[in-house]
Amino acid sequence: MTLTIAPRGQWLMGHMPQFQADALDFLTHAYRLGDIVRFRFGPFPLYVMNSPQAIHEVLVSKAASFYKSRGTKGVLKPLLGTGLFTSDGEFWRGQRKLVSPAFHTKRIARYAQIMVGFASTQADTWRDGAEIDTESEMAEITMHIIAKAGFDSDVTGDEHELRGAVEEALSVADENFNTLLRWPYWIPTAKNRRFLRAIARLDTLIQRVINDRRAGRTGADIDDKGDALSMLLAAVHDEDGRGMTDKQLRDEIMTLFGAGHETTAKALTWAWYVLSQHADIQARLHDELDTVLGGRMPTMDDLPNLPYLDRFLKEVLRIYPPAWVTTRDAIEPVDVLGVPLKRSAIVIINIYGVHRDPAIYPDPLRFDPDRWTPEFERSLPKGAYLPFGSGPRVCVGNAFAQMEAKLVLAVLAQRFTLRLRPGHTVEPEDRFTLRPKFGLPMIVHKRGSDLAQR
Ligand code: HEM
Repeated sequence: MTLTIAPRGQWLMGHMPQFQADALDFLTHAYRLGDIVRFRFGPFPLYVMNSPQAIHEVLVSKAASFYKSRGTKGVLKPLLGTGLFTSDGEFWRGQRKLVSPAFHTKRIARYAQIMVGFASTQADTWRDGAEIDTESEMAEITMHIIAKAGFDSDVTGDEHELRGAVEEALSVADENFNTLLRWPYWIPTAKNRRFLRAIARLDTLIQRVINDRRAGRTGADIDDKGDALSMLLAAVHDEDGRGMTDKQLRDEIMTLFGAGHETTAKALTWAWYVLSQHADIQARLHDELDTVLGGRMPTMDDLPNLPYLDRFLKEVLRIYPPAWVTTRDAIEPVDVLGVPLKRSAIVIINIYGVHRDPAIYPDPLRFDPDRWTPEFERSLPKGAYLPFGSGPRVCVGNAFAQMEAKLVLAVLAQRFTLRLRPGHTVEPEDRFTLRPKFGLPMIVHKRGSDLAQR
């Protein structure tokens, strides 16, 4: 059956408390109920899209009938402003055209060296036998990369300050993400004050960067420093030759930080967890890296010669998609798989659920990079694999993120093996991005050392 009505929830709140208590459990349960399942969040109907076909209709073929959801925008807008992630309609279309060229494959080739360099610098701080907090080590690397690829060296002096403020602001947004009932940001709770202070610090820093770079120039007169900011400063609308205002630039820069750092860090974190659990997979990855690279630093040109790394990353992003869900609101009455949705209906795209569907991915909880044969990929229904979303709102940093994750792994896995702290429990938690609930403490072992042989 296409539409399933979920059993009644609480009289006032509907199914919201269940979602808030454990969203991953909620989505797994919802997945079993049918292609599209209707729940209730307070007075609002909420439709969970489970089947690939329903997902494809919402994100791709009927994308024009949906906007990003008010809930997500409400949490993120104070931080990201009206950037690519949080805007809609004509404004979004214009910004997407201006921002996309900064992430085209040709442009991102120049970021490869930055990615390898920061991974290597971080690796130099790892000591044989020491314990690391894998999440924060990976975040450190991805934050450096996005700061450098985004702003070149303009923030080097302020980098520490910038990172602290971004992390502070994101951690509050993160706490608010699944909490549909929260204090509005203008109420001066301790948390809100922390959030607004971090945003004020960021605004000052970003404005300084924009002023320095602009230095009174516009459009083609701006020097190309090879970073994303140069592209954003030089970008102009086709129709009238207008560039971005300072406010638009600020919002897009914040968006790149907000969307482009933590997601990749979490993908890398999960990759290390999986490697620590599968000695056979780790051995095959080491073998490929050792054969192709022979101990040297990887380059972008090496990536096509590392097919196992590619399959491995695809499987990491399937079982542990950092963006485990995305949401939309219907902006007009629309049918999905023939099910009529009213204007303002809330829609949840069950990325986590569809990636674990046994009808699509046999034995779905088994981590198996070898399932990613070209034939298997061709046989996948549209809407069945979407770690980066799909349709017009697909992740603009998709190619950047994949290159980054592969290069960072290639640098680190050549030198180290990471082992989970004995007895530590790992389970996914539904924060803004999918993370290990109790963190991921790992013991570093230099490859080739006695510890790594054991
Ligand atoms: C593994 C890493 C990443 C994952 C899993 C990821 C995932 C996603 C997903 C699922 C969406 C679509 C959301 C929706 O449809 O509502 C998205 C959008 C977006 N991502 Fe990523 N992303 C990653 C890395 C990055 C990077 C590195 C950047 C930038 C440097 C970036 C920038 C963006 C932006 C700006 C959007 C909004 C695009 C639009 O709406 O036009 N992401 N991402």
